[in-house]
Amino acid sequence: MQLQEILYSQGFGTRRVCAGLIQQGWVSVQAAGAPELGVCLNPAQDFDERGLLLRVQGQDWPYQAKAYVILNKPVGTECSQRPSAYPSVYTLLPGPLRQRPTRGSLSGVQAVGRLDQDTTGLLLLSDDGQFIHRMSSPKRHVPKVYQVRVRHAIDGTQIERLLAGVVLDDDPKPVRAAACVQADANRIDLTLTEGKYHQVKRMIAAVGNRVEALHRSRIGGLELPEDLAPGQWRWLRPQELELLK
Ligand code: URA
Repeated sequence: MQLQEILYSQGFGTRRVCAGLIQQGWVSVQAAGAPELGVCLNPAQDFDERGLLLRVQGQDWPYQAKAYVILNKPVGTECSQRPSAYPSVYTLLPGPLRQRPTRGSLSGVQAVGRLDQDTTGLLLLSDDGQFIHRMSSPKRHVPKVYQVRVRHAIDGTQIERLLAGVVLDDDPKPVRAAACVQADANRIDLTLTEGKYHQVKRMIAAVGNRVEALHRSRIGGLELPEDLAPGQWRWLRPQELELLK
């Protein structure tokens, strides 16, 4: 693939901007197996993009055909590109991830489902439409684990009701937790396989309690890595991606 096309595919701007970056000497390239990075001044030079490392204006960027990203969402951020009251989680990502070409427009990665502004933890983002659809489709029942801190000490009846199913205001069909494990007097780990609006908060309210703090710790087989601090992101590793498939 031509270098300007590679840069464009990774979100470094329009093709014209990418060609300019290359011609101005801002782009170094290291092919898989090559000993070191080298500046390339020719936008039309062909490279095998697999395993390619780019350095663009000092920023190291491994070529990724599709972007699969994990973010530890901090409290007080919105999962919307156009937030209404709090900063957007997208501001935590580097520019290229926010402007990768997706179906012709430079709209970047999208969050796989949304978390409330006061919810923390595991958020996936991608530019792979099929992956986003697969992970969020209600038909696939991908389990998600939430650590829920509640205001009043949780009792056995509340846990039984969460497992048996509670009716939420907008739907007569009960929703149930796939699992509910008590961690301490005021904390449960709730596994859900649906993704209804404010589902955890509404289920907890339906059993007469109230969510004080909510943290998503797992999606499918993927646990939020302990070394990923709130606000940090990283690429998903191939084996982590496998855990989600
Ligand atoms: N359920 C909620 O109530 N809020 C979230 O952010 C996620 C699940």
